[in-house]
Amino acid sequence: MFMKWVYANLVILLLIILNVSEICEGGITSSFSRKSNDLSIDMPLDSDVFQVPPGYNAPQQVHITQGDHIGRAVIVSWTTPDEPGSNTVTYWAENSTEKKLAEGIVLTYKFVNYTSGYIHHCTIPGLEFDTKYYYEVGSGNPLRQFWFLTPPEPGPDVPYTFGLIGDLGQTHDSNRTVTHYELNPMKGKTLLFVGDLSYADNYPNNDNARWDTWGRFIERNAAYQPWIWSAGNHEIDFLPKVGETIPFKPYTYRFPTPYQASHSTAPYWYSIKRASAHIIVMASYSAFGKYTPQYKWLMDELPKVNRTETPWLVVVMHCPMYSSYVHHYMEGETMRVLYEPYFVKYKVDVIFAGHVHAYERSERISNIAYNISNGVCGPVSDQSAPVYITIGDGGNLEGLVYEMTQPQPEYSAYREASFGHGIFDIKNRSHAYFGWHRNQDGYAVEADSLWLHNRYWHPIQEEASVASM
Ligand SMILES: [Fe+2]
Repeated sequence: MFMKWVYANLVILLLIILNVSEICEGGITSSFSRKSNDLSIDMPLDSDVFQVPPGYNAPQQVHITQGDHIGRAVIVSWTTPDEPGSNTVTYWAENSTEKKLAEGIVLTYKFVNYTSGYIHHCTIPGLEFDTKYYYEVGSGNPLRQFWFLTPPEPGPDVPYTFGLIGDLGQTHDSNRTVTHYELNPMKGKTLLFVGDLSYADNYPNNDNARWDTWGRFIERNAAYQPWIWSAGNHEIDFLPKVGETIPFKPYTYRFPTPYQASHSTAPYWYSIKRASAHIIVMASYSAFGKYTPQYKWLMDELPKVNRTETPWLVVVMHCPMYSSYVHHYMEGETMRVLYEPYFVKYKVDVIFAGHVHAYERSERISNIAYNISNGVCGPVSDQSAPVYITIGDGGNLEGLVYEMTQPQPEYSAYREASFGHGIFDIKNRSHAYFGWHRNQDGYAVEADSLWLHNRYWHPIQEEASVASM
């Protein structure tokens, strides 16, 4: 009888241990609790952030992006509402009185019943590295003046700070995200945007007037530092029922990329070098199967990355390859199956994605052993593999996704459904720091962070999260 009692209790104890270990299998699922008024609503059209600049035909929606492969060119874009006006950008270095001119192009497009303003794009070439430039757009009165900083010359130990925002939209939360990014003392110098920009396609006929409001909203930051674009599903704007059959039309007209400088054949996938980083932008919603232009481009690109010059290899895409949220679960699986072996082989340091409206950071894991007959089909710890960071938490009108797969998978280090932004701060060839900032916290507070050891220079060094709160 006594032995039966002992046996029964041992079984119960064993079950408890198994259960606890299952619960503890993964990393941290944050218990942070947001206030209940988190409903994300687009800011009204008369909000100050959407204000049209005063004056007849004043340039608006000014934004810049990198204009070549190494950071010595900038593409300036702006829109004039009433007439084409001037295509010229006047620019000068801070320490120079010599004003130079660059000539751009002007485009318009129609989308259902909407006709765009006059969209200007002007590439300024031949800039000096590490220099502050002022620039002016418009003609006569009003003329609008802005400035930007060019990056230092690419080199292995050049410190540089990137910001990360995704799935931004134009809600009050979106505005908080941009404000937190602007006021973050870590001072991002270039923003890596992980796709889903305006969410205009949530309006009837994808009301492109909401592309214009978004352009005016981001100007306060994007006119002063480059935003590096990647396309999300909200950029597709494919509405065949009303005759709109060209995917990515508004996005392509409005947000040019320097794709030809990296020998890409389409603006949706390309690479740039910036300081000590080599950034590869992938297109989740363009063909990427074997033998497609994007696949061929990536196969040419990866062996060319010079880790002696740019040690940090960063990939940006919209749809995450690893995500443990229920929403969009496994949507990135086809891209993962095809491309993960290459990202591991070439020791990509970190892959940033959006799409899932929440935050998640993975351990370094890979799932590349499967060969149809060996049954090896789960992620395993792999120090050659990238860290996967989902940062689709910019604050758009679709709101956050709270539902997570349970238990937390072993590969998931930290996950939380809050709006925020990221900072990727490269210190030198061996170390970089990543911090995630949620909008409810003070500007300097990091809710999650990680010291990254460069995979090329320190391929087997394990990393540890600094602090999660
Ligand atoms: Fe998305």
